[in-house]
Amino acid sequence: MKKITKIGVVGAGNMGAGIAQKLAMEGLQVVLADTSKGLVNRGLDIIRTLLGQGVEKKVITQEQLEATMSRVHGSADLQHLADADMVIEAVYENLEVKKELFQKLDSLCAEHTILATNTSSFYVSDLAAATARPDRCVGMHYFYHPAKNRLLEVIPHETTSQETIRRSLAVGRLHGKTTILVKDTSGFCVNRFFSPLLTEAVQILDDGLANISTIEEAAKRAFKIGMGPFELMNVTGIAISVHASTTFGKELGSLYGTPKSLPLQMASGQLYDLTGDLDEAVFALIEDRLYGACLGAAAALVSEGVASIEDTDRGAKVGLRWRQGPFEIMNRIGIDKSYRLVEAMTKRYSDFHMPEILKRQRKLGKPFAFNYVDMDVHDGIAFITINRPEAMNALNEVTVAQLADKVAKAEADPAIKAIVLQGAGKAFVAGADIRYFIENIKNNRLDDTAAFTRGGHDLLLRLENSAKRTVAVLDGLSLGGGSELALACQAIVATPAGSLGFPETAIGIFPGLGGMIRSARQIGTDLAKYYVFTGRTISAQDGYELGIIAKLVSPQELDSAILEVCKGPKPDKYRPRDIPERFMELAQVCSMHNADALLAGLKPAGVSDSLAEKTLNIVSRKAPIALKLANALIDAQQQVSIPEAIELELGELHYMFSTEDALAGLSSAGRKPPLYSGK
Ligand SMILES: NC(=O)c1ccc[n+]([C@@H]2O[C@H](COP(=O)([O-])OP(=O)(O)OC[C@H]3O[C@@H](n4cnc5c(N)ncnc54)[C@H](O)[C@@H]3O)[C@@H](O)[C@H]2O)c1
Repeated sequence: MKKITKIGVVGAGNMGAGIAQKLAMEGLQVVLADTSKGLVNRGLDIIRTLLGQGVEKKVITQEQLEATMSRVHGSADLQHLADADMVIEAVYENLEVKKELFQKLDSLCAEHTILATNTSSFYVSDLAAATARPDRCVGMHYFYHPAKNRLLEVIPHETTSQETIRRSLAVGRLHGKTTILVKDTSGFCVNRFFSPLLTEAVQILDDGLANISTIEEAAKRAFKIGMGPFELMNVTGIAISVHASTTFGKELGSLYGTPKSLPLQMASGQLYDLTGDLDEAVFALIEDRLYGACLGAAAALVSEGVASIEDTDRGAKVGLRWRQGPFEIMNRIGIDKSYRLVEAMTKRYSDFHMPEILKRQRKLGKPFAFNYVDMDVHDGIAFITINRPEAMNALNEVTVAQLADKVAKAEADPAIKAIVLQGAGKAFVAGADIRYFIENIKNNRLDDTAAFTRGGHDLLLRLENSAKRTVAVLDGLSLGGGSELALACQAIVATPAGSLGFPETAIGIFPGLGGMIRSARQIGTDLAKYYVFTGRTISAQDGYELGIIAKLVSPQELDSAILEVCKGPKPDKYRPRDIPERFMELAQVCSMHNADALLAGLKPAGVSDSLAEKTLNIVSRKAPIALKLANALIDAQQQVSIPEAIELELGELHYMFSTEDALAGLSSAGRKPPLYSGK
C-alpha cells in the first residue's frame, strides 16, 4: 500500500478544523482549505486555541502544540491539495455545494487521491457520481468533536474499490480513530439508531404520557447515560434533530420521522426546559418505548447489512459513550423482551417491520454472540485484529478462543504465508480481563483459571513455532498478557507509540503467559527481573535497542515494514546479543545477589545510590509472594526448554491465585495497589 502522508481537509468550520487538528496531532501533514484566507485563518485560530487549552491542562506540551501547528498548512487555493493522499470535505451540508466541490477536486487532484466526504445525510454514491473516480470515493463520517471523539464511520458506496477501503481504514488508524465499516445508507449506523431515541422521546411528550424531566430521567436510567434526549438536543442543536429526522423519515419510514412538536420547538428558538416533577410510575412505559425505537432501529440496520452487531455496539460505546451498545442491551434485558418491545413499534409505526435478526435470534432462544477477533487475508498474509477497542483489547476467555480459532484457520490455509496480529484502536492488547480472575478466586474456580492459562500458552507456542511467519504489530501500548502475546510472535514490528510492560507484581501475581521466559531468553535474567519486579515500561525505542523489536518505524511506514518482515526469513529472536550500555545498570540492580537483597528490603549494591533507592522504593510496594515466585521462576526457567519452563510457571499458578495478596491486588487494579500482607 502506498505510504499515506498528506491529507487535505476542505471546510475550516467546526468539523473541518477539528479533523485537521487531529490528523496533524497524530503526525500527518494537513492542508486546511476554505473559500477565503480569513475563513482559513479562523479555522487555524480555533485549532491553536484548542491546543492551547490542552497545554494549560498539561495534556500536551507547548512543543507538541508548535509541532502540530507546523503540520497544518492553511490555503484558500484548492490547488494545494492536488497531491494529497486523501481529501476530506467538511463544507456546508448542501448537496449542490458538495457535488461541485467533488467535481473540482476530481479534476485537479492526483490519480491516487481518495475523495472523502463527512456528510451526515447525503449518499456517498451521489457525490461519487459527480466524479470520474467513483472507485476512489468514500464516506469518512466523524463525530463531534472530531479531535476528541474517537469514532469514525468509514462508508464505502457500491463501487468503492477494496484498495480505497483499505487505505481509508489506514487513514483512520493513522490518526487514532476507532473505525467501523458502514454501508452507504440513510443515517449510516450511529445516527440511524440514535435519532429515533431522540424523536421517540419527543413523541412520548407529544402523546402526553409524561413531562420532559420524567422522560429525561427514565432515558438516563434505561441507557445508563449522563444526558437524556432533551438535554442532548439542547446541547447539539434542536435544528440538527429536525433536519436529521426529516431526511430519515423520508428515506427510512415513520419510526424515524419528525414528531409534531419538534419543529415548533426549533421555531420558538427556546431550549427544552428540563425542570419538572418526576413521575416514577411511568418510567417503565417510557423505557419500553425508547428501547423499542432505538433497539428496533439498530436491529433493522444490521438486518439490512448496514453494519455488524459488533460495529453497531462499538459505535454506541465509542461514539456516544454509552456503557453498553444496543445488542448488549438486548442481551441484558433478554431477547424475548426486546422482541416484544420492537413488535410494539411495528404496531405503532405500520411501515416498520420486525427486523429479521430479531426473528432469528428469538427462534434460536439465545443471546447475541459477539465476534471480537477479525481476520482479513490479502497478499498471502492473514491480518488478525483483536477488535475490542472499548476494552483496550483485553484478553478474556471468548477473545482467546476466537483468536485461537482464527490462528488455526490461518495455519491450515496453505495460501497464507504469514500471520500478523494487531489490535484495533489505540492499544495492542492491554493485558487480560482481570474480573475473570477475581470471579474465579471468589468462586473457587482456580482450575478454570489454570485451564484458561494453559490454553493461552498453547496458542502462544503455536504462534512461536509456526511454519508461517508470525508478526505482532505494536503501534500502541501492550501490557501483561498483551506483551506476552507479542513476545511469543516470531517478530515484533512497532511504531514509537508501541510499548511493553509487566505490571503484574503490582496487582499480586506474576506474568503468567511466558513473558518471563521469553524476555529472559532475549535480554537476560537480570534485566528481565528488573522489568518484572518494577513494572517499568519498555518503550518501543528501548525494545528496539534491546533487540526485542525487529523493526521500529513511523506509522506511515508500518505497512511496508510488516510486509518486509512477512516476506523475509524467520528471525532468530533468541540470538545472542550485546545489551547496550545504558541498560547495564538496570540489569545490575537485579543481578543475583541484588535481586535477593531487593526482595529482602535491602538496597542493591554496585549501582548508583539514586537508582538503588528508587528501585527499592518501587519494589517494596509490589506483592512479596509474586516477587519471590517470579525471582525463582526466572532463574529456573532459563535452565530448561520453553515447554518445560511453561510447566514450571503453570505449577505455581494455583498457589499464586490462592494467596490473599492476589485477591487484594487484582481487586485494586486500576487504583492504588494495596499494602500487601505477604500471605
Ligand atoms: N457538526 C456536527 O456535529 C457534524 C457531525 C458529523 C458531520 N457533520 C458534517 O460536517 C460538515 C461540516 O459541518 P460543520 O458543522 O463543520 O459546518 P460549518 O458551517 O461549521 O463549516 C463549514 C465550512 O465550510 C466552508 N465552505 C463552504 N463551502 C465551501 C467550499 N465550496 N469550499 C471550501 N469551503 C467551503 C465554510 O466557509 C465553513 O467554514 C457537514 O457536511 C455536516 O453535515 C457535522
